[in-house]
Amino acid sequence: MKQEDLLFYGEYAPKLEEIKALLLGEIQAMLDSLSTDSETALAEHIKCRIKGSESMKEKLRRKGLAESAESGLKSLSDLVGARVITHFVGDIYTVLDLIKKNPNWRVKNVKDYIADMKPNGYRSLHIILTLPFGVGGIDSIDVEIQLRTIAMDCWASLEHQLKYKKNIKNTALIVDELKRCADEMASTDLTMQTIRDLIQRG
Ligand code: GTP
Ligand code: MG
Repeated sequence: MKQEDLLFYGEYAPKLEEIKALLLGEIQAMLDSLSTDSETALAEHIKCRIKGSESMKEKLRRKGLAESAESGLKSLSDLVGARVITHFVGDIYTVLDLIKKNPNWRVKNVKDYIADMKPNGYRSLHIILTLPFGVGGIDSIDVEIQLRTIAMDCWASLEHQLKYKKNIKNTALIVDELKRCADEMASTDLTMQTIRDLIQRG
């Protein structure tokens, strides 16, 4: 953790680091239980992060909440987050199934922005888990796992970059073009899935 984040999270910092490591380890173990072979691996890569203090404060401010670690722990669900990037769309639902069946985890909520994409074209599957916390009177914490294909991740990452550019002209045109890209990528994802199914069927 960076110095400013350590200062912000204070007494909670070690536990947050522990939860981040636990989340990553458990996801890795779950995926390995199905395949350790890189040819058939479900995930292209996995990432885990603790939300930086600047981004935390910005989000708490936006939601009209106190800008403290305690308020974040109690009211935000993505203070600790993981992202599992899969090759194919079908793999997302295989991973979802593994997570739902994991006896160590309690799934609080699932948002399927693949079946029901956001108006801007954003696609991903979000899972909120409630994990035990037990520091400073806080019993549990919600964490978010995002499941996406490489194509969905590529789009989300580019769109995220563009969103923070100031003084964008032609906003309507850009929104349309981004949506078109998202739909083209989703269509490619479906074709790739079909190709894989054909190959697997032999
Ligand atoms: P926040 O958006 O996090 O305040 O909470 P929410 O309850 O609206 O959750 P939601 O499921 O909409 O989004 C949570 C996370 O998903 C975000 O922090 C992003 O990482 C990602 N996400 C959601 N929508 C978009 C989007 O339109 N573009 C990109 N790039 N990422 C998004
Ligand atoms: Mg949102």
